[in-house]
Amino acid sequence: MSQLLIEGGYPLCGVIDVQGAKNSVLPILSAALMSDGECSVLNFPEITDTYVAIDILRALGAKVVKQQDCITINAKNADGYEIPYGLMRKMRSSIMFLGSILAKNKKAVISLPGGCELGQRPIDIHLAALRKMGVNIEENHGFLECSHSGLKGCEISLSFPSVGATENIMLAAVKADGVTDIYNAAREPEIEDLARFLVKMGARIKGAGTDHISIEGVSSLSGCTHRVIPDRIVAGTYLCAVAATRGNALLKNICPLHIYAVTSLLKEAGCDIKIYDDAVSIECDKLKSVPLVRTMPYPGFPTDEQAPFMALMSIASGNTLFIETIFENRFKHVGELLRMGAKITTEGRVSLVEGVKKLHSATVQATDLRGGAGLAVAALAAEGSTVISSVEHIYRGYENFEYNISELGGKIKKI
Ligand code: EPZ
Repeated sequence: MSQLLIEGGYPLCGVIDVQGAKNSVLPILSAALMSDGECSVLNFPEITDTYVAIDILRALGAKVVKQQDCITINAKNADGYEIPYGLMRKMRSSIMFLGSILAKNKKAVISLPGGCELGQRPIDIHLAALRKMGVNIEENHGFLECSHSGLKGCEISLSFPSVGATENIMLAAVKADGVTDIYNAAREPEIEDLARFLVKMGARIKGAGTDHISIEGVSSLSGCTHRVIPDRIVAGTYLCAVAATRGNALLKNICPLHIYAVTSLLKEAGCDIKIYDDAVSIECDKLKSVPLVRTMPYPGFPTDEQAPFMALMSIASGNTLFIETIFENRFKHVGELLRMGAKITTEGRVSLVEGVKKLHSATVQATDLRGGAGLAVAALAAEGSTVISSVEHIYRGYENFEYNISELGGKIKKI
């Protein structure tokens, strides 16, 4: 297990380019499995989760070639229907391959997915929808054996606007017989990006980005070229890191609209934010607490930004109440922030952060991807040298993390 050594107290200043979005590229790689041609995906982020997705594609028989930031997938002869247990366990998004395997084959065999432990993460909404589309699913000791004699379009009303379930239904529906209407669909920008990719392949999709998505099945899908959207969560994390160190930076290659919920709270916290067409600048001298951060589905404040923003609020003047409405247990970073001198009280899905003047160095452990990123934000602002262990979690979602922080003048190295 690698560790990061971060010497805090250096303002992050300069310019960085933001990587392509992990949560876009993962379902897009799954969609490429259904193509009869060659798909090229640009702005591909080099992170461990995307490499797991490549391993899954290869295990299913696809040819995958990577050249710089472009990944090319040829899945014409990929007739595999079983994802090895080891790959399923490596990330939650391995479940995204279920919809596309079923669109391509009459059966699929997978195990329940792994991924960040954020409390219970059932896949009941995915499975109920696929069953409605005509899939017979047998659950045996943590394995799922799925089969069908033709996917059927239907009306699906989601009990919660689950991002993954919306994507899995879209993947299965593009080649189903008839029209599938998804009500209470997730509206995240990554859903729209997946729809754009599928439409380029020849799919018929309307309404992506709204809570009603309508998909008319087609018989075949061709190859295409697509550039994935910028990673809004990574952008938000770097903004928090710059603010926490009282720095001044320009983040390029982002879509400002996608991070509006974060930039508006940063403004409220006293940061000077300037919005450009595809960039955002931030400058922070003084930081004050915002009273309430409630995580919500898009366009609300993203749960994935809760930990980095909490690290920031832990050194702001005043109190912030965090309410986590999406995941059952997404405050694992709190115990680690306490070791660094933060004042936080947690009960269930609510945390009260009382800002302190300074955090101090400590030895802490990344407990999940965004929690780990939150600890890095705290360490960059803290007095002294902090060691963060289990940083593999951070590499699941952040490309060239040490390089980007160093480019901005942060003192960070892998040990
Ligand atoms: C996606 O996860 C993202 N992952 C997550 O990003 C993100 O935190 C989450 O959406 C919410 O925005 C990817 O896109 C790859 P959900 P997903 O289904 O699809 C419950 C990161 O840090 N639920 O919208 O798994 C579930 O337990 C990651 O990049 C069910 O109960 O999220 C959770 O409480 C982590 N049954 C809530 O819904 C289901 O069948 C939201 O989950 C499905 C979900």
